[in-house]
Amino acid sequence: MITHILAISGSLRNTSSNTNIIKASAALAPADIKIALYEGLDKLPYFSPELDGEDSIPPATVKDLREQLKNADAVLFCTPEYAFGVPGVLKNALDWIVSSGELYDKPTAVISASPLATGGDKANASLVQTLTVMSAIISAESKLLIPVVRTKIDAAGNITDKTLEGSLLQVINSLVVKNASAGQH
Ligand SMILES: Cc1cc2nc3c(=O)[nH]c(=O)nc-3n(C[C@H](O)[C@H](O)[C@H](O)COP(=O)(O)O)c2cc1C
Repeated sequence: MITHILAISGSLRNTSSNTNIIKASAALAPADIKIALYEGLDKLPYFSPELDGEDSIPPATVKDLREQLKNADAVLFCTPEYAFGVPGVLKNALDWIVSSGELYDKPTAVISASPLATGGDKANASLVQTLTVMSAIISAESKLLIPVVRTKIDAAGNITDKTLEGSLLQVINSLVVKNASAGQH
């Protein structure tokens, strides 16, 4: 059985190290695990409950995000830290799915990568908190900080650090294991 993982980067930068980590993870993943990069983050409107009430039809881009999340067996976030928090574009996307509930019981991984030694620890913790309140399943093995990321991935997006490769594989596998057990309860 193929496990489909939807990966969401918190960075819109063309040469984002976080997006590159996702692309490298997709290449590293075993053949029965497909990691697809969500590309619509910058197309989502600003969240407003006015656009998301019982009498309103959600914008097409929001419907697409919800559909992609619903169809995924697991979700992987990889994000930078901005001003000690989660980048606004990513938080905006999450606000759209608080009420619709696509992350409920969904095995979810939270990776943060930073050029600093902290690895984006505060954004990581904050994202875990937000996703937990949305009832995503996040195991200890599904969380990863990547400090000094620019020494571990080159400009072309190739991972140059074997330890990081191993850590990413562990995160990917943690989602599959959780996915198998999630169906049993
Ligand atoms: C507005 C802004 C705020 C930032 N704040 C932090 C921060 O609080 N902690 C941190 O580790 N890095 C911070 N950085 C540096 C980012 O980690 C760095 O730009 C990183 O490469 C962004 O990830 P990306 O390569 O995926 O775009 C900040 C960068 C920007 C542009």
